Amino acid sequence: MATLARLGGWANQYSALSWLLGALAIVSSLIPSPIPINNQITGRIRTPKGPASGALVSPASHSGLAAHTDLSGNYSIPRQGQFNWIAALEGHYLEPTSGGDLLLTPLPKDHPDSPWIDPTPGASTKACGNCHQQAFAHWQNSAHQKSASGLILQNMLAQPTGNQNSWHLLATHPEGAAACIACHAPGQSSLNAELPLQGPLSGTHCDLCHKVKALASGTPGLTHGRDLFEFARPATSQRPVVIGPLVDSTRENVAYSSLFKKSQICSPCHEGTVLGAKVYTSFSEWQAWGGSQTCQDCHMPAISPREHHHEMSASLARQTGGLRARWSTEKSPNALIVHLDIWAEGLGHALPTGHIDRHILGTIMATDANNRPLNSLSADNLVPAWASGLPNSIPGFLLARWQQINGTAPHPFWMPGGNWYDSRLLPASRQHFTWKFPPQTSKLHLRIEHRRAWPELLRQNNLTVPSEVLWDETRNLN
Ligand code: HEC
Ligand code: HEC
Ligand code: HEC
Ligand code: HEC
Ligand code: HEC
Repeated sequence: MATLARLGGWANQYSALSWLLGALAIVSSLIPSPIPINNQITGRIRTPKGPASGALVSPASHSGLAAHTDLSGNYSIPRQGQFNWIAALEGHYLEPTSGGDLLLTPLPKDHPDSPWIDPTPGASTKACGNCHQQAFAHWQNSAHQKSASGLILQNMLAQPTGNQNSWHLLATHPEGAAACIACHAPGQSSLNAELPLQGPLSGTHCDLCHKVKALASGTPGLTHGRDLFEFARPATSQRPVVIGPLVDSTRENVAYSSLFKKSQICSPCHEGTVLGAKVYTSFSEWQAWGGSQTCQDCHMPAISPREHHHEMSASLARQTGGLRARWSTEKSPNALIVHLDIWAEGLGHALPTGHIDRHILGTIMATDANNRPLNSLSADNLVPAWASGLPNSIPGFLLARWQQINGTAPHPFWMPGGNWYDSRLLPASRQHFTWKFPPQTSKLHLRIEHRRAWPELLRQNNLTVPSEVLWDETRNLN
């Protein structure tokens, strides 16, 4: 414990993990060294049931030198110096052994009563944050960390006030909050847990993702969150195992699963038909896109040779991809014409994606030499007041999904009986807009922002949720 406390104070967090790797290498040297024959290293891997064929064997943290075992569990690798040896096989973890063959043990059958491990540094000796400081710091700053306590979610699930058509779910669906638990508070075993929930284990935490053994049977979108995961929580008497993407991990009691490199691990939560509406469609949009990058490639960039970013935020992804725009003006005798092209780069799904109420609002404002606002000369490409939250419709564009019921919009996703519209930008498409302003236009202001919720929800709950500005530019026309 004294060592861990010292590590916590180090400025360079990666070096803290590297130091630990060194310390743990001493532990894993309990794993017996294989026998050198001529210039080959040979050995045998087994499971409790017999030889482990098809296991991947490599020197610790050197998966580049890996070899597969044959049907008898034997392997042979060219000799490359002194290493500790690691074996990885889907569904198994490496047991520390003190002699003989390497032993791969099947992952435990799931024990739902086994408690999750609190990641907070210092919470226990098992706390993930004691050692994985960088991953913990990024996750602590993520939406996953507060998925059971977010402000907008809290307000949607607050006791209803006002009319039945409000943005309070419980006004029309008194039991409706149970439909949110499987993804927003996936570690809760009780269906009746009341959202919001606070605390490090209430949201989408480390141990939850890293106890995922496989996907259970079911269809993404229809089976939600934890119900589509097969976990491997050990009995409380057993040592905990964590599951991850490494085949050459320097730590024992960790298991390799290929799922961690696939978009499918995100699908149980990022695809969801909820209370009858297609509220989350990122995974199916990604499938339709058909590109070669996974969710992790864009949302979990590598931050060191053996670590990936764990914030998984939209703002992080925007550093490499997202909305692009180009605009130009054209003067005619009786109008100033503005052309705008928008498209996306480095994007593997629609823009915006995620929760159905997310939208992107673009506005273009024209003013004369005295800074007086000028109206558009045509009725094309106006954003309605319900979308912008402004008193009147204004020139601009809207990328969104919304529901119209009896001619009014937007409505909460759980309200039945409307027509759905979708104006979002697809990854490989472009949208073009034109506006006409009076010839005396002397200044134009283009602003594009990403907003998390509709103005009516924010107004009813008296909430201020800042939008993220994607574009903000003023042009003087002389
Ligand atoms: C005592 C320090 C320590 C603690 C506590 C700890 N880890 Fe690790 N963990 C390590 C080290 C060291 C490695 C090896 C990293 C490497 O080989 O690059 C590792 C590897 C991993 C891997 C990769 C496994 C693989 O095969 O892909 C995952 C995932 C992981 N840890 C998650 C967790 C989670 C989740 C927790 C908390 C429940 C946790 N760890 C607690 C030190 C620790
Ligand atoms: C080719 C890169 C790429 C891939 C692949 C990708 N994304 Fe994204 N994603 C982005 C970018 C860029 C953004 C930010 C867009 C913006 O400006 O709002 C984003 C935004 C998001 C958002 C935030 C939505 C919002 O508006 O708040 C979610 C959720 C998301 N992605 C989930 C996923 C999931 C799940 C997958 C895999 C099924 C995935 N992404 C695959 C690049 C990608
Ligand atoms: C939403 C699911 C999710 C959560 C929550 C999560 N991880 Fe991960 N983790 C992943 C995935 C997916 C990868 C594989 C990334 C890759 O290889 O592209 C990964 C990789 C890792 C690795 C292997 C090294 C690396 O960074 O690639 C470690 C260690 C790890 N996670 C620790 C943690 C810790 C500690 C926490 C909490 C602070 C945490 N994870 C929370 C999904 C998650
Ligand atoms: C157990 C369910 C679950 C899993 C698994 C999961 N997510 Fe999420 N994710 C959520 C929830 C819930 C939120 C929204 C939390 C909130 O804003 O309250 C979210 C939010 C996000 C966001 C938006 C963050 C922002 O800035 O608004 C991104 C991006 C994202 N997840 C990516 C991923 C990727 C990539 C994976 C797979 C490696 C993944 N998620 C796996 C439940 C999950
Ligand atoms: C299939 C899994 C799933 C289910 C079920 C689910 N959600 Fe979500 N929820 C998510 C994911 C994933 C995100 C993050 C997407 C993004 O960032 O745009 C999210 C984001 C949200 C947000 C935006 C949070 C913010 O702070 O911006 C709200 C509000 C929300 N969900 C409400 C609900 C409610 C209410 C229910 C239950 C009626 C529910 N969700 C059920 C997966 C789910």
